[in-house]
Amino acid sequence: MTKKNYILEQKCRICSSKNLNLILDLGEQPPANSFIDKNELNSSESKFPLRLFWCGDCYLVQLLDIVDKEFLFKNYFYMTSASKPIVDHFKKYAQDVYVEFLKEEKNPFVVEIGSNDGSLLSEFKKLGTQILGIEPATNLSNLANQSNITTKNTFFSSQVCKEIIKSRNATVVVANNVIAHVEDLQDLMHGIQILLDKNGVFIFEVPYLVDLIKKLEFDTIYHEHLSYFSILPLLKLVEQFGLEIFDIRKQSVHGGTLRIFVSKKNNFPINDSVKIFIDNEYSLGLDKIEFYQKFSTNITKLKKNLIELLLRLKNENKSIFGYGASAKGNVLLNFCSIDNQILEYIVDTTTIKHGKFTPGTHISVISPEKILERGKDDIALLLAWNYQDEILEKEKLFRQRGGKFLIPIPQPELL
Ligand code: TYD
Repeated sequence: MTKKNYILEQKCRICSSKNLNLILDLGEQPPANSFIDKNELNSSESKFPLRLFWCGDCYLVQLLDIVDKEFLFKNYFYMTSASKPIVDHFKKYAQDVYVEFLKEEKNPFVVEIGSNDGSLLSEFKKLGTQILGIEPATNLSNLANQSNITTKNTFFSSQVCKEIIKSRNATVVVANNVIAHVEDLQDLMHGIQILLDKNGVFIFEVPYLVDLIKKLEFDTIYHEHLSYFSILPLLKLVEQFGLEIFDIRKQSVHGGTLRIFVSKKNNFPINDSVKIFIDNEYSLGLDKIEFYQKFSTNITKLKKNLIELLLRLKNENKSIFGYGASAKGNVLLNFCSIDNQILEYIVDTTTIKHGKFTPGTHISVISPEKILERGKDDIALLLAWNYQDEILEKEKLFRQRGGKFLIPIPQPELL
C-alpha cells in the first residue's frame, strides 16, 4: 500500500466521537473506478484499506480510510447523461421540485452540488429557473459549460457559498449521490446554512443504509463513498447548523435511495414521514452494534457461496464473463478474489472503458457486441445488478440461446 494520497481519520465525521467500531473489512483495494491500461498491468497499483466503521454515539456508518479526493475525482468517468434511467429520474425530479418549491417564487435560483454534466440543471433551466452548478471534475464541468449550464469547476465549500451569496441566495440547493462523497460534512452544512434563502430548501438524495444492509449491497462500499446514511445521524448533523429535516421520501433508483428535505428551523411543517423513519430505525436496531455484526456475518457467507458457485461452474466447463464494468463490480471482484483466471472478460457499454483492465483483478473490458457470440454453456456474472431488469430484457436472446445470468446479491442466483 502506498501511504501517499491516504490518511486514517480518527473521529466520527458527524459528532467527532472516538467511539468508532469496525463492522466490516473488505481488505486492501484499489480505488474502484481506477481502471488501468495494458502497459500498467505489470506496475504496482495503489491499494488502500477498505473498512466500514460504526459510530456508537451518533450511529453514522462511515469509512475512516480516506483516499485523497483530488486523486479520486479530478478526472471522473461517471456521466449522468450516459444512464437513461437516471436521466428520466432527473426530469421528473426537476418537475416535482419546481411545482412544490419554485413555481410561486418570483425569480427562483437553484444551485446543484456535484452537478456532473449538467443533466439535472438543464431540466430546471427548461422550467425557467436561474441555475448554477458546482462540479469538481474538470472534464464534466467543461462539458456542462459548453452546453450553457453555468458551472463552477471547484469542490463545494462554505467559502464557495460566501462567493455565491455576493450576488444572491439560493431558493433550492440540490445534491444527488454526492453527500456520501464529502469528507467535511460540517463545512458542507455550514455552506448550506449560508447559501439558502430564509425560506430556502436543501434537497438531497443518498443511498439508504437500511437497503444496503437488507439487500447485502456491500459492493456499493468503496473509497469514494465516505458515509452510509441513515436518518438518526443526519438529524444530529443538521441540527448543529440550525437546520431541520422536514420530509423524507423513498426513491427506487440505485437500489434504494432517500430524498431528504431540509430547511432552516420552523419554516415548514414536519411531515409524518420523519417520525416513521426514526421509529423504524430504532425498531430495526440501527442504534446497536449487533445489527451491523449480523450484516458482516451475512457478507462472509455471501462471499463463500459466490466463490463456491463460480468454482463449480468452472469445473462444469462453463465459461464465465462479467456484465457491466461498474465500480461496485470491482469491489466485489477484489473482495472475492475473482480475477482473469475466472472471468474471461467484462462487457460494458461505456466506450472509454474499452481496452482497459479492472483494477486489482486485471480483467479486460470490451464492447458488449461480443455477447452476440455467446449462449449455451456461458454464464454472465451481472456486476451492474442495479440495472438487472433493463439488462435482462436487452439480452433476452443470450438467454434464449442457453446463456445464464449469475446475479451475485443478495444471494448468488442463476437466471
Ligand atoms: P453504474 O450503475 O454506473 O455503477 P457504479 O457506480 O458501480 O460504477 O455502473 C453500471 C456499469 O454498467 C456502467 O459502466 C455501464 C454499464 N452498463 C452496461 O454495460 N450495459 C447496460 O445496459 C447498462 C444499463 C449499464
